[in-house]
Amino acid sequence: MNFAGIFAYLNYKVPRTRKTIFEILVKGLQRLEHRGYDSAGIAVDEDNGKEHKNGGCICLFRNKGKVKALADELYKQKLLDFDKEFEIHFGIAHTRWATHGVPNEVNSHPQRSDKNSEFVVVHNGIITNYKDLRKFLESKEYEFESETDTEVIPKLTKYVYDNRESEDVRFSTLVERVVQQLEGAFALVFKSLHFPGEAVATRRGSPLLIGVHSKCKLSTDQIPILYRTYKNNKNGGTSKAHQIETESLQRLHPTEEKSVEFYFASDASAIIEHTNRALFLEDDDIAAVANGCLSIHRIERSVGDLASRAIHTLQMELHQIMKGNFSAFMQKEIFEQPESVVNTLRGRVNFETSAVMLGGLKDHLKEIKRCRRLLLIGCGTSYHAAVATRQVLEELTELPVMVELASDFLDRSTPVFRDDVCFLISQSGETADTFMALRYCKGRGAFTIGITNTVGSSISRETDCGIHINAGPEIGVASTKAYTSQFVSLIMFGLMMSQDRISLQQRRKEIIAGLQTLPNLIKEVLSLDEKIQLLARELFQHKSLLIMGRGYHYATCLEGALKIKEITYMHSEGILAGELKHGPLALIDKRMPVIMVVMRDPCYTKCQNAVQQVAARQGRPIILCTKNDEESRKFAYKTIEIPHSVDCLQSILSVIPLQLLSFHLAVLRGYDVDFPRNLAKSVTVE
Ligand code: G6P
Repeated sequence: MNFAGIFAYLNYKVPRTRKTIFEILVKGLQRLEHRGYDSAGIAVDEDNGKEHKNGGCICLFRNKGKVKALADELYKQKLLDFDKEFEIHFGIAHTRWATHGVPNEVNSHPQRSDKNSEFVVVHNGIITNYKDLRKFLESKEYEFESETDTEVIPKLTKYVYDNRESEDVRFSTLVERVVQQLEGAFALVFKSLHFPGEAVATRRGSPLLIGVHSKCKLSTDQIPILYRTYKNNKNGGTSKAHQIETESLQRLHPTEEKSVEFYFASDASAIIEHTNRALFLEDDDIAAVANGCLSIHRIERSVGDLASRAIHTLQMELHQIMKGNFSAFMQKEIFEQPESVVNTLRGRVNFETSAVMLGGLKDHLKEIKRCRRLLLIGCGTSYHAAVATRQVLEELTELPVMVELASDFLDRSTPVFRDDVCFLISQSGETADTFMALRYCKGRGAFTIGITNTVGSSISRETDCGIHINAGPEIGVASTKAYTSQFVSLIMFGLMMSQDRISLQQRRKEIIAGLQTLPNLIKEVLSLDEKIQLLARELFQHKSLLIMGRGYHYATCLEGALKIKEITYMHSEGILAGELKHGPLALIDKRMPVIMVVMRDPCYTKCQNAVQQVAARQGRPIILCTKNDEESRKFAYKTIEIPHSVDCLQSILSVIPLQLLSFHLAVLRGYDVDFPRNLAKSVTVE
């Protein structure tokens, strides 16, 4: 099972040296590093692609460890002539995150069909029937070298090629036959010795996009889909003449000079420095580039299929995916929150009239308002955004609100009804558990709303409607700005639902005024950075860190503890202060570090009680409280004092010191903040 990052680059009549091709591939992989990986690989042509049929070959370079190590090794070894120029070339690259089969060279991608690498493939996702396929191929004497599920793909492609009916079979036809045999989830890019300068890519349940760059005008910005029907003749194939004729009308190609470059990637951040024109493949699309023309075909038309794939203009800017002056993406993203929150609110909240309008939801509002219950579903941080806003959503919508971890929701086969509205919350929009929960809810007739940060993602495409959180690309594996933007998005939903409730107008106004001041208050919290760094120095050698709170701040405790676990590898637990005497109190002594969130809200007195109980057991609580809270100072070992906001928004502010603390703890403990061990940014397997 493999998933992580795919990047591939095809230059057609754009002369490039091998060195440049390598640099483009390596940079592409580096832009995907945030997804988490433990080995990397690249496949390029040994000689000019055209010479392949006369004995050229495909070179594979694969390594356990970082992309940089792979690149350094390549340059050091000088195995190839780096100055050699290619007018047409296709190179593929991959970062792998090991689950089946340890991270090592043979398990890395590209995987190959045989020692000559007639077919090489990069794969994100999982092939669930690989054991059966492997058995079949082994019975046909194909020898396997890796422990991966992926290896069956290039081998099966070679099998189909070796057993082809006619000499002039097309590359895309081979791939089409292969994917029909595959079960599971995948994004795949194929390269072959037999089809120099050609590329084939396909996906099912795992994202893949194609960027296009050409100096001259392209033939179209909507690529019509060609359907292979297989109904026209007895042998199960359409007449070839007809097929080629239709296809020539259905390709994307440059209109004049004919030079063009294509970039294939699992994430838009890998292509943005080359082009902002890209198309997103849909499940079961087979995209092929031959002679510089891109065509897309599908085996059969399914209900609701669009007849074409549009070339989109990506809004992402290069600087958004660069670290700038920060030492880590996570740190940059924490400090971006004053702006990312504004971007989430932009054009949606009218601060003068107190009107809130979420464009994606407005045509469905009637239907949404008819519902009897809200279900908020997500994993990890996205789940915490649900926990954080549950109370205010109950208040503003006057509906029962359930919060669900996607995996558990599925395990329980939770009852879902036609009059439920289900929110699928996911930064990436690709998390497998959340996506499966979406399918589950849809299957039961519920109305589904996506809250994602990724345009074109599976969840944003398959939900009935959605809110795009507009936080900008989040690269750090530990989610920060996406959390606060998900939070704000859910608050806006509550505000939109309560627009006509007279009894709630005062409350709405108070929250909207709070949203307006939020960016400045976030800046104020961020100014505590140095103080928090000092605190981190005191704590970083401890084994464990408890975080307690209740009410609106329970989510802050869970999220703070998750950040600490994710990047510092310390044990950390978010504890509901109401449960203190039912167990956690036994952990308290003078050595155990405890952070307690005590804010001026309806839970204040209860939280103060909890502080006293901790203090009475010689605990030394670090209290996260509102500014100048004399009462909290009395019992605190230390305080972190943050500005006051409306109760239901206060936990946007209270989580930020914990984001900063986890960052400083990780740095002090010597860990790579953006690439925590064993974790991936986007978990596309269940
Ligand atoms: C992974 C990441 C977490 C993230 C979770 C949900 O586990 O490591 O940081 O919160 O997935 O991701 P999503 O993209 O669905 O929000």
